[in-house]
Amino acid sequence: MRAAVLGIGIMGAAMARSLARAGHEVAVWNRTRARADDAAGDSITAYGTVREAVAGADLVITVLFDADNVLAVADDVVAALDQHAVWLQVSTVGPEGMARIAAAASAVGDRLLDAPVLGTRKPAEDGNLVVLLSGPPPARDRAGWALDAIGSRTQVVGDEVGAASALKLVCNSWVATLCAAVGQATALATALGLDPAQFLEAIGGGPVDTPYAHAKGALMAAGAYAPPSFSVDGVVKDVGLMVSSAQGTGFRDDLLRTLLDLYSDVAVAGHGEDDMAAVRTAF
Ligand SMILES: NC(=O)c1ccc[n+]([C@@H]2O[C@H](COP(=O)([O-])OP(=O)(O)OC[C@H]3O[C@@H](n4cnc5c(N)ncnc54)[C@H](OP(=O)(O)O)[C@@H]3O)[C@@H](O)[C@H]2O)c1
Repeated sequence: MRAAVLGIGIMGAAMARSLARAGHEVAVWNRTRARADDAAGDSITAYGTVREAVAGADLVITVLFDADNVLAVADDVVAALDQHAVWLQVSTVGPEGMARIAAAASAVGDRLLDAPVLGTRKPAEDGNLVVLLSGPPPARDRAGWALDAIGSRTQVVGDEVGAASALKLVCNSWVATLCAAVGQATALATALGLDPAQFLEAIGGGPVDTPYAHAKGALMAAGAYAPPSFSVDGVVKDVGLMVSSAQGTGFRDDLLRTLLDLYSDVAVAGHGEDDMAAVRTAF
């Protein structure tokens, strides 16, 4: 099959390689052309325009930073999308962003899938992402070959686009909280005259342990925040989406707002492009 991947950042580059490894032809486009050229190779071809990349593809993946970036390419995707082709929208945009994208893509709405992913750089490189999927069942069926290439599991969330994007925000609220909690606990250990490794040893193997604490705790201990698996800027974007999506629902967002402050402070201090583990520096 032939896929087009629009957005060759951390996630898009890894997905393009997973698709190629699975035996598919992959067309790639990126705003900064050099990153697309760097990704080109066996079965991966870089194109200078969105329309060139999309033409002839069986499936198009958008994996850009935010909804505005996706909307900026939407007209070209719709214009060049083959009659049978499916649009897999992977960028984390929240349900409101997904609604705006669906409005821009109304001409091909029966083939637009809401498909945010769980997992970061390494799972993306290994084709082991978890895809949260919502949208029309016939389009979901037609995307199976690409979902198999980029992910180890697909969770169908519903038939309407927006449902998967809502669940993605819920999952990222968990991740943003966990990472900040690791930063807080390790910083508190230091403040109280302990070695942060003693905290990780204490929770090790117990019911409140998680591999994530050890992975992010190791980065924090080493102050090793580059290259990022998921950037601080990305977390700020996503927590902002959580706050705005929950507005008016009666949901109490104090904890989200504190997280937004913490990650935003760290971005302002110069860690925006660093890994989210840099939230440790806020403490
Ligand atoms: N990294 C993760 O762990 C992870 C996990 C799940 C989901 N996600 C989501 O996946 C998406 C991509 O994340 P990523 O980590 O791959 O980000 P990234 O490495 O920062 O890449 C961002 C991509 O968006 C493009 N972009 C940024 N601003 C643009 C604009 N104004 N117009 C056109 N393109 C623009 C970038 O192009 P340039 O190269 O030209 O800047 C790049 O291709 C985001 O929505 C993120 O929230 C990330």
